[in-house]
Amino acid sequence: MRNWMFAVVAAALFAAPAAAVADEPIIIKFSHVVANDTPKGKGALKFKELAEKYTNGKVRVEVYPNSQLYKDKEEIEALQLGSVQMLAPSTAKFAPLGVKEFEALDLPWLFKDDDTYAAAMKGPVGKWLFQKLEAKGITGLAYWDNGFHMVSANQPLIKPADFQGLKFRISGSKIADQYFRVLGSIPQIMAFSEVYQALQTGVVDGCENTPSNYLTQKFYEVQKDITVSYHAHLQYAVIVNSKFWNGLPPDIRAQLEKAMEDATDYTNSIARKENEDALAAIKQSGKTTLHYLTDDERKAWQVAMQPTYKWAKGRVGQEVLDLVAKELHIQMN
Ligand code: LMR
Repeated sequence: MRNWMFAVVAAALFAAPAAAVADEPIIIKFSHVVANDTPKGKGALKFKELAEKYTNGKVRVEVYPNSQLYKDKEEIEALQLGSVQMLAPSTAKFAPLGVKEFEALDLPWLFKDDDTYAAAMKGPVGKWLFQKLEAKGITGLAYWDNGFHMVSANQPLIKPADFQGLKFRISGSKIADQYFRVLGSIPQIMAFSEVYQALQTGVVDGCENTPSNYLTQKFYEVQKDITVSYHAHLQYAVIVNSKFWNGLPPDIRAQLEKAMEDATDYTNSIARKENEDALAAIKQSGKTTLHYLTDDERKAWQVAMQPTYKWAKGRVGQEVLDLVAKELHIQMN
């Protein structure tokens, strides 16, 4: 009898950890730097909803918005260390990972409009860039859209000469660094969470970003003039730690892939409207002046920024430039 009881107790004890493990949901920590009320913020929450639904609760997604957990650079380190499992950084921030080629997407006036951007990223260049990440232990799952950059300061930016001598915050890309430099301004890389204060205190004079980010971070409250220039595009790559991703049970991974596919469709379908609404809200606030370029003014910006293309070759390499050029049916030199 005693032996029998011992066996039961022992079996229960040994079984307990296995049973507990089987019942414990897999946790995905998804960290990002923007507000919930933006295309990326909403996309992350949509992924959470669908991932938990499609896996029947076997996966729990914890979304940490607004740099709550990590700032720009730290979150990439955290992903490599496995402290978080999922991020969606702007592709302008991938050089510290050792993949500078993503910066080709930051070339000024590269994408004519939203549709051109979307079509281009469905082609081979998007996959080619993701292959570059694999060597770094990172798997790219999807591209999320956030529209085009505006640019601002406490003075109107209408002519290229207006940029002369001004300090601009940039998010990380050397291509952006270059197009500000050729205009005679002084670019400075800074974490997204620090931009509002830097603008408010005058550490920098201006910045560039999309309407949804200007609105939710209140940049428009500390910038007197915003030019709705749409001179460069902001896109995200949703990325995971490859070891984590490949170690998932195949059925769960397939459900998560489906959740990501659906969340991506959702995010990319709302991005334009979110930014239009944000721009309307900024306009309505009356706290800043919006400027729109005439065709001739835009042309002058394009000509002034053009040397960035030649410079880019040394930074990102010819291969990615050729891929992008082919996708867009343009000549790059
Ligand atoms: C920025 O740093 O300006 C952007 O990349 C923030 C974001 O994620 O939209």
